Amino acid sequence: QTRILTGITTTGTPHLGNYAGAIRPAIEASRSGDAEYFFFLADYHALVKCQEPERVMQSRLEVAATWLALGLDPERVTFYRQSDVPEIPELTWLLSCVTAKGLMNRAHAYKAAVQENLDAGDADPDRGVTMGLFGYPVLMAADILIFNAHKVPVGRDQIQHLEMTRDIAQRFNYLYGEHFVLPEVVVDEATAILQGLDGRKMSKSYNNTIPLFVPEKELRKLIMRIVTNSQPPGEPKDPDGSTLFQIYRAFATPEESAAMRVRYAEGIGWGEMKQVLFERLNGVLAGPREHYQALLADPEGLERILLEGADKARAIATPFLARLRAAVGLRRLA
Ligand code: TYM
Repeated sequence: QTRILTGITTTGTPHLGNYAGAIRPAIEASRSGDAEYFFFLADYHALVKCQEPERVMQSRLEVAATWLALGLDPERVTFYRQSDVPEIPELTWLLSCVTAKGLMNRAHAYKAAVQENLDAGDADPDRGVTMGLFGYPVLMAADILIFNAHKVPVGRDQIQHLEMTRDIAQRFNYLYGEHFVLPEVVVDEATAILQGLDGRKMSKSYNNTIPLFVPEKELRKLIMRIVTNSQPPGEPKDPDGSTLFQIYRAFATPEESAAMRVRYAEGIGWGEMKQVLFERLNGVLAGPREHYQALLADPEGLERILLEGADKARAIATPFLARLRAAVGLRRLA
């Protein structure tokens, strides 16, 4: 049976980009499809960026509550935390030992960190780079390979990680036999990268996000802050260069988007467009927002759901890791 897997790093509060790029397609697939689904909180990955225990704790709760508030059914999918599945970091080590350092040198996040140091004239290009950051793609490969996932729906920014996962899996298979499926990346082109307030990719690192469940007033304020150009109402506008349109499109049907293109051509004013976008988003999010608050108010309930998910995940991961350990020469004799 086809296995579909995806994860979200538990840093900060989930935003519209996470929803459109990962959470919504994942939940929709799990409702209609007959595959096996694995959705998880990448909380070990969170430690790469965040060394504040309170924030890590809070973000784990928020991300878990977000998935559930948006309609994830933990009965239909395996929903768990990475850190509750110790087979994942164990596999990370097995994979690290067959992963070329040169492959990791090419990772976008690592290269960006080095470039920043070089641009700042730092004598040490690796300043601030931890082994966690450097080895991030290997942990991600372990996330995917421990369940032999066939498909991984993600935003476009994760494509390179999937290519690396395939490289690592191939190398392991070559050395130790055909243990791993080579996972396919699935990117929804329509919403592949949602833009943030400033028009760049919506990202926690850029501080330009619209969190999913801010109160209505705050949502309105954030939408009013989305950058536009200075074209006045009445002047025809280019929808494809407009962050407002791009976000609208991610939350509208193709027919509604086509109708909105016409309104752009007719010169809809930015103020009106912001109002339309606010109403659309608020309409979609108001129900889940309430559910989210209720879930957050019961952290023990969330914990129970996640631990049940971890049991389901380990029922698969434990025997598979035993097989992999044996394959590399770490078989138990008694
Ligand atoms: P993360 O936590 O940065 O993002 C979670 C998912 O949201 C997508 N995404 C976006 N999609 C559209 N527009 C945006 N502006 C936007 N921002 C984020 C991401 O592409 C991702 O699909 N390394 C991963 C987490 C991870 C993972 C995995 C994913 C760890 N192990 C195994 C899949 C499989 C990450 O940091 O995603």
